[in-house]
Amino acid sequence: MLGIIGGSGLDQLSGLEITERRACATPYGEPSADLVFCTLRGQALVFLPRHGADHSIAPHHINYRANMWALQEQGARNVVAVSTVGGISGTMVAGALVVPDQIIDYTHGRESTYFDGIKQPLQHIDFTLPFCADMRRRLLAAGRTCGFELLDGATYGATQGPRLETAAEINRMERDGADIVGMTGMPEAVLARELGLGYAMLAVVVNPAAGKGNNAKTVSLDDILTVSDAAMKKVRLILDALGSDRGD
Ligand code: HPA
Repeated sequence: MLGIIGGSGLDQLSGLEITERRACATPYGEPSADLVFCTLRGQALVFLPRHGADHSIAPHHINYRANMWALQEQGARNVVAVSTVGGISGTMVAGALVVPDQIIDYTHGRESTYFDGIKQPLQHIDFTLPFCADMRRRLLAAGRTCGFELLDGATYGATQGPRLETAAEINRMERDGADIVGMTGMPEAVLARELGLGYAMLAVVVNPAAGKGNNAKTVSLDDILTVSDAAMKKVRLILDALGSDRGD
């Protein structure tokens, strides 16, 4: 089964036939919301809004361990995470849809492993390539099916939030090699890896990052909402194409 994690702008999946909503308890507490089971052209999907159904959970308060655990326990084997991001490097303009291939983690204080030597024994996992190659390929193919240009490859910098970054922080991230910036990709990606889930991200650039482009002095939150609304229409079509590619 395919799992979809919705981010800002995608707290609900409309247009799908919902078969069940299920509250799930996990050894790590409760996920952000009930899991929503749907069918898309006969194919089963499970959806989870990472900020909660009413978009009230801040990035650093999300129970990422419970979210990923619940998805896996309820039968998801692959997961697409939809995430809004700021654009740092030149091609990452507002409205662009990106399938990143690398991550730099700037977050702190988040529960970011199952293998912490408490509930499960300490283990070090390989994370050289943080996203699932097969799911990335499927996402890119779904974009092509819809006739949208999806940018193939980018380094996602995960920041703590919920505030946006300073211009100097973005400059530093650019020097580090980050192309886009968001607040939730970590520890989501690493927890997916620890559980053996095939995880890829569909990143939606909703603003030039702080200090970039027309955001030299301030980031306009109104602009973010406008861009996000338009882009999420495309995201829904891509998920539709992905859900019906019979890869799961
Ligand atoms: N920074 C961090 N996260 C974001 C941004 C940003 O500029 N835009 C959307 N999510």
